[in-house]
Amino acid sequence: MARYLRSVEPLVSPEELEQTQQLVTEFEAPGGEGERLQARLQRRAARMENWITDWWVQSAYLESRLPLAVHSSPAVVLPKQDFNDWRGQLRFAAKLIAGVLDFKAKIDYQTLLVEYSRGHPLCMDQYSRLFASCRLPGPKHDSVLLPPPGRRPPTYITVVRNFQFFQLEVYNSDGTPLTVDQLHWQLQRIRAQSWKTDKEPLGVLTSDHRHTWGQAYTTLMRDKLNRESARAIQRSLFTVCLDAPVLKVSDARAASRLAAQMLHGGGSYSNSGNRWFDKTLQFIIGEDGSCGVLYEQAVAEGPPIATIIDHVLDYCLITDLDISCFTYRGFGKELLKRHRLSPDSVLQVALQLAYYRAHGELCPTAESASLRRFHRGRTETIRSTTSAALAFVRAMTDDNCQAPERLSLLKQAVEVHSILTEQALNGEGIDRHLLGLKLEAIADGFRVPELFMDTSYAVASYWKLSTGQVAARTDCVMCYGPLVPDGYAVCYNPLPAHVNFAVTAFNCCQETNAEHLAGNLQNALDDVGDLLENYGGRNHEKQS
Ligand code: COA
Repeated sequence: MARYLRSVEPLVSPEELEQTQQLVTEFEAPGGEGERLQARLQRRAARMENWITDWWVQSAYLESRLPLAVHSSPAVVLPKQDFNDWRGQLRFAAKLIAGVLDFKAKIDYQTLLVEYSRGHPLCMDQYSRLFASCRLPGPKHDSVLLPPPGRRPPTYITVVRNFQFFQLEVYNSDGTPLTVDQLHWQLQRIRAQSWKTDKEPLGVLTSDHRHTWGQAYTTLMRDKLNRESARAIQRSLFTVCLDAPVLKVSDARAASRLAAQMLHGGGSYSNSGNRWFDKTLQFIIGEDGSCGVLYEQAVAEGPPIATIIDHVLDYCLITDLDISCFTYRGFGKELLKRHRLSPDSVLQVALQLAYYRAHGELCPTAESASLRRFHRGRTETIRSTTSAALAFVRAMTDDNCQAPERLSLLKQAVEVHSILTEQALNGEGIDRHLLGLKLEAIADGFRVPELFMDTSYAVASYWKLSTGQVAARTDCVMCYGPLVPDGYAVCYNPLPAHVNFAVTAFNCCQETNAEHLAGNLQNALDDVGDLLENYGGRNHEKQS
C-alpha cells in the first residue's frame, strides 16, 4: 500500500492524494477488507500453480473487445533481406520455415536451454503454447485453442498469398521435416495456384472489433466448409504470409512503412487480407525483402458479411495509426553499463523527460517486466512515473538548475526505477497484486473496495505511455499500438552501441504525435548522454 501511494503521488492533486491515503488506511486496517481479500488470495495461491496468470490473461486479453490489429498484437520488424522479387521471397520463406521447424524440434525434444534473467532461471512454459495455438473470437470474451495434450500435434502450416489460405504439410511421413528445397518447391506450387483473383480479403475479418468478429465468426462457423477451413488455420503450427509488393516511400519513411506492414498489413487493398490476426504466430515476407513477425498475445452473425467488410475497408483503424521508428546512435547499453547504470532504467527516465517536454506534465507510464522467474508467469507492470523522475524532469527544464545537480537527480531517478524493476521481476510489484485483490472481491460477490473506485486508482493506471523493452541480438525492433486513444506506445531494443525505437500514437488524437515524441526522445537521450559523458566522472572509462 505504501508503494501504491508513492506511485500515485506524482500524478494526482494533494486533495486526491489525501483521499487515497484515507482509503488506504481503511483498506489495510486489521480486520478490514484488505486483510480478508489478502487471506482469500493466499488460499487461491496455495491451491494453484500460478494465482494470477489465468486472471491476467482473461482480463488483459480475452475480455478486451478492441481489435487485435494495432491495439493488441505486437509486430517485429526483421532486418531487410537481400532480395527484391518473388523468387527471392520464396527462397527466403522456405529457409525461414525450415528454421522455425528446427526451433520447434528443440521444444518437442526438450533440448531448449533454460533462459536466465539477472541470474534467475525463467519458466519455459510459453514456448510449448506458441505452435498450433490460436485465439478464438467470442461474442463476450475470447478463448484460446491449444493443441489437446496427448494427441499427435499437427504437421502442417498455413501459407497465405493473395488472400488465399493454403494448408502445407511440412513433415514427411517418417516425421522428418521437409528440406529447404522441398519447402521451396511446395511454395512455388502455392504461388502457381494463387494468382490474384477477385477473392474477398477474408482475413481482414479477424482484424475487426472482437465483438463484431465474434458475431461474424459464429455465422461463418454454421457452414461445414467454413468450419473446416477455419479449424485448419487455427490448428496449423503457424502462418506464413507471402505479401504482395507495396508502394515505395521515401527512405526517411521506409522504416515506419515497414513497421505498419508488419503491424496491420497496410489495409484491405494491400496485405491485411493476408493475415489471420487470431493466429498466435505469423511470419510475414514481402517481395521487396521486407520481413517480420506478428503475434497474438493471449497464449498465448450479426450484420451481413458485406457490411463487416465495408466497415473494415474504411480502415479508420489502420489509416489512424501514426508510427515513428528510429535508431538512436548517440549511445547504446554498453556506455550506460560502464557508468554503472541500468540501461533500461536510463531509457525509461529519458522517456519521462521526452514526454514532459512534449506535453508539459508526466503521465501514467507502464513498462512490462517479465514474471517468467515464476512457473507460467507472464508480466508485471513497472510504474515508471516516479516522484524521483518528476524531480529530474523539472530540474532539466529549470534554467537555474546546474548540470551536477541534474546528474545527481538523473541517477536517483534511475536508481528508483531499478528498484521498482527488481521488485516487479521478483513478483513484488503492485499491479498484479492489486488486480488479484480486486478480482477476488468480484469473484465472491463482495463489495469492490472503495480503493478501486478512487480517482487516483483510475488516473494512475490510465496508461498514456505503454512501453516495453524487447531485447534481441538481431538489429530489429518490435512495435505495437497505444493502449488508450490519447496515448503512445514506445517499444525499444537496446543494442551495445545504439537503440532501436518504435513510437506509435493515433492520428485521430490531436494531443499526440509520434514523430514529435520521437524527436523529444532523441533530444532527451542526447541530454542524458551529455550529462553522463561530461559530468559523470571516471566510472565510464573502459576497463583495461
Ligand atoms: N551497472 C552496470 N551494468 C548494469 C547495471 C548497472 N547498474 N544494471 C544493469 N546492468 C546490465 C545488466 O547486467 C545487463 O547486462 P547484459 O547486457 O550483459 O545482460 C544489461 O545492463 C541490461 O540490463 P537492464 O537494462 O538493467 O535491464 P534488463 O535487460 O534486465 O531488462 C526488463 C529489464 C524489465 C526490461 C527485463 O527484465 C524484462 O522483463 N524483459 C521482458 C519485458 C517484456 O516481457 N516485454 C513484453 C512487451 S510485449
